[in-house]
Amino acid sequence: MIESARPAAPLRYTRVAIALHWLTALAVLGLIGIGLVMTHGDLTAIRRFQLYQWHKSVGITVLGLSLLRLGWRLSHRPPPLPAALPRRERGGAHLAHLLLYALTLGLPLVGWALVSASPFNLPTMLFGTVPWPHLPVLPEMANKAAVEAWLKDIHAWGAWFLIALLLLHVGAALRHHWVLRDDTLRRMLPRLPLGTGARP
Ligand code: HEM
Repeated sequence: MIESARPAAPLRYTRVAIALHWLTALAVLGLIGIGLVMTHGDLTAIRRFQLYQWHKSVGITVLGLSLLRLGWRLSHRPPPLPAALPRRERGGAHLAHLLLYALTLGLPLVGWALVSASPFNLPTMLFGTVPWPHLPVLPEMANKAAVEAWLKDIHAWGAWFLIALLLLHVGAALRHHWVLRDDTLRRMLPRLPLGTGARP
């Protein structure tokens, strides 16, 4: 008999993948909250400025975390989806995960671009200490105000799309855990034993 050279798929995500996932989740939730308050809240100018700086700092951190996640994901095999999952749901899960990667990378880049194109040319100081540069080209453009307005719209629509996708993602994870009772959520948690959710 010829044995396959490929090692068996892991049962759960690695500790690094789990840590990156929950750190990113926490930071993205914070960004959505800060983003909505700083743009729609009734704030003093100084408070608004402070929240913008927090938003930019955490947003750039998410960009770094997402690059690390992508590198880790491409170099480490993830556990497979439950074998019983219908093909359509399998495709839906892959598409949702791909979009989540695209948005957690794309939204910070668009945010960075819109700050770089701003006619106010405000500096970014990450967590009040590290000066963060603008992207090239954008600060020198003649029609900066129009480009900034266009990037703001993309950033806001992208954020609302991400919120919808996150609700779907969390809903799917809870359905797997409480209704289908498989290991999908448990394998993204560091301590819970696997295979304990099956109905008696
Ligand atoms: C995953 C990452 C990010 C998420 C989820 C996010 C989310 C949001 C949200 C929900 C808003 C409010 C949109 C609205 O309803 O008007 C917003 C606005 C904003 N974000 Fe982000 N953001 C991210 C990354 C960044 C980064 C990295 C920067 C800059 C370095 C940035 C800069 C801004 C700015 C300047 C605004 C205000 C735009 C305006 O004045 O209309 N964002 N963001």
